[in-house]
This record gives sequence, C-alpha cells and structure tokens, in this order.
Amino acid sequence: MFITFEGGEGTGKTTLIKRVYKALHKNHNVIMTREPGGSEIAEIIRDVILNPKNKAMTPRTEALLIAASRAQHLDDTILPAINEGKIVLCDRYLDSSLAYQAVARHLGFDFVLAINQYATEHMPNVTFYIDLEPEVGIARIAKRKKYDRLDQETIDYHHLVRQGYLEVLKKYPDRIILIDGTQSLDEISTFILKEIQKIL
Ligand code: TYD
Repeated sequence: MFITFEGGEGTGKTTLIKRVYKALHKNHNVIMTREPGGSEIAEIIRDVILNPKNKAMTPRTEALLIAASRAQHLDDTILPAINEGKIVLCDRYLDSSLAYQAVARHLGFDFVLAINQYATEHMPNVTFYIDLEPEVGIARIAKRKKYDRLDQETIDYHHLVRQGYLEVLKKYPDRIILIDGTQSLDEISTFILKEIQKIL
C-alpha cells in the first residue's frame, strides 16, 4: 500500500505523517519517507534543489532534478518496501510536481508527466491533499528559523501552487481526498486514520 500526503507550505503534512506513522506502526509494517529525497542519493539531489545558493536554477532543471531524485527514491525505497508488503507513507510525490512545476512554474502537465513517466506507472493507492490558504500556511512557517530556496518564493507563486493542486484533484478525483487544512491536527489525523483503515 502506497499512501501520499500533499499540500502547500505550512499545511502540517510532516507532523501529520509522523502521527499517522506512530498510530499504524503498532499493528502494521510501515515506513515513512519524503520527496524530494527519501534515499541516500535522492537526498543529495534534494540538497542541490533546495540550496539557496542555486538561485539561477531554471524551472526545467528543477523539474528534471526532482524527477531524477524520484526515480532513485522509487527504486531504492518505495518499490522494495511495497514488494515486502509494507505500507509506505510518503511526504509529497508526483502531485507535487504537477502543482509546483507543471502549474506554478508553467511547464505544463504534458512535460511534467513525460519526464515522470516511470512514476505514473507506480501511483499511490490514496493521496491526502491538505488544502489551506497560502497566507495562513506561510504565516505558520514564518516561525521556522531556516529558509530554503523554494521557501523564498512569492505569495503569488503559492497561490498558483494551490490552484495547481485543485487542478490535480479534478484530474484524479478517485485517488485524492481533499482535507480542510484549517481543522486541528487531531481532527485531520483521526480522519486520515479512519480512511486508511477503510482501505486496509
Ligand atoms: P520541504 O522542506 O520538504 O517542504 P514541505 O515541508 O513544505 O514539504 O521542501 C520541499 C519543497 O520542494 C517544497 O517547497 C515543494 C517542493 N517540491 C516541488 O516543487 N516539486 C516536487 O515534485 C516536490 C516533491 C517538492
């Protein structure tokens, strides 16, 4: 079983994954991973993508590096775990590339799907998309001390990301579950766990 978590900045995804992992860990063989990254080489590529020094990186290069890190992550981490019958909880996956690179970076769905073709062959069973006004999410992460290259994007960019996610949701309504990100983390994690139990 392959489960992904999606959303803009400051939606609480990472905290939620940890909670879901803790709850499932008691009775199931489960792993928690993330993108970009999630394996040794994929994490090295992540550092290049997020390094604030790489301001001149073009959207195409960004999309290709993310796709490369995903290929490595899939082969090193996701597929072996699925083949061993584990539940894989992943913080971001292909839908992030569709919202961020295809829509917010204007590269288009065709280009992003083409460079991620191998990933479309291994889509999640279910995806939880946490929807939140970008202003609210950004205000939440403003309290964090360190900013990476992508955290420095404008508010307009984050609005495009949200619009991108809503387009992705329309494209894959059977796979993606929309969650109102203004609810408390307790409410959201309870809901997510119920949905996972249904599928299990
Ligand atoms: P991260 O610090 O993990 O952000 P968050 O806590 O919001 O998940 O950084 C991941 C960044 O990479 C985030 O800004 C979104 C971006 N990203 C893409 O643009 N495309 C992608 O396909 C993925 C997986 C991430």
